[in-house]
Amino acid sequence: MLLKIPAVLSKQQVETARKALLEAQWSDGNITAGYQSAKTKNNLQLPGDSQVARELGDVILAALAQNNLFMSAALPNKIFPPLFNCYQGGQSFGTHVDNAIRQVPGTPVKVRTDLSMTIFLSEPDEYEGGELVMEDTFGSQRIKLAAGDMVLYPSTSLHRVTPVTKGRRLASFFWLQSMVSSDEKRSILFDMDMAIQALRNKLDDSPEIVQLTGVYHNLLRQWAQT
Ligand code: NI
Repeated sequence: MLLKIPAVLSKQQVETARKALLEAQWSDGNITAGYQSAKTKNNLQLPGDSQVARELGDVILAALAQNNLFMSAALPNKIFPPLFNCYQGGQSFGTHVDNAIRQVPGTPVKVRTDLSMTIFLSEPDEYEGGELVMEDTFGSQRIKLAAGDMVLYPSTSLHRVTPVTKGRRLASFFWLQSMVSSDEKRSILFDMDMAIQALRNKLDDSPEIVQLTGVYHNLLRQWAQT
């Protein structure tokens, strides 16, 4: 399931993040690339242990914790601390798949990457190119969102970032391990949760809604690993 989540960050938060990012010390993006992706990756990245990355990462994680759409779709167990990248002057990232396991630097914590996330921090009209292109069974999808919006997609999918031929594309990218590793099962739970919430907005709480809510939690109990 690919899901666009609008306004994860407010315009004010985006502005603050951009200001800090433009003053930060950037490195070559290959610091976190695997063997295969290093060959096609050409961008700039903030080192994960930089003060700016940590502070902005915490802002993002706090915003996500309050975001019901994200929590329902992702059912997060462990979230890798957000990283930040910058593409400019023709930089791109060729077709690749994200590494299955990420160790959080400086800790023994390993995160299985079930879902990948990108939060756009530049407005679409500030740069040319820079689309995140996802190959899935329904064909390819080209994603370029407003600053502050996020896309959530299965880490199993092949994806790339097209060359940024004009302007600068700033973004945050990271991964999470879901309590429900199966994309299919997670999608079923998400659809059910959305339907129950919509019903609850239309009708007063009825015994049937209570029962459906019970079914949702019983499925989650069957499928979740914590
Ligand atoms: Ni990737």
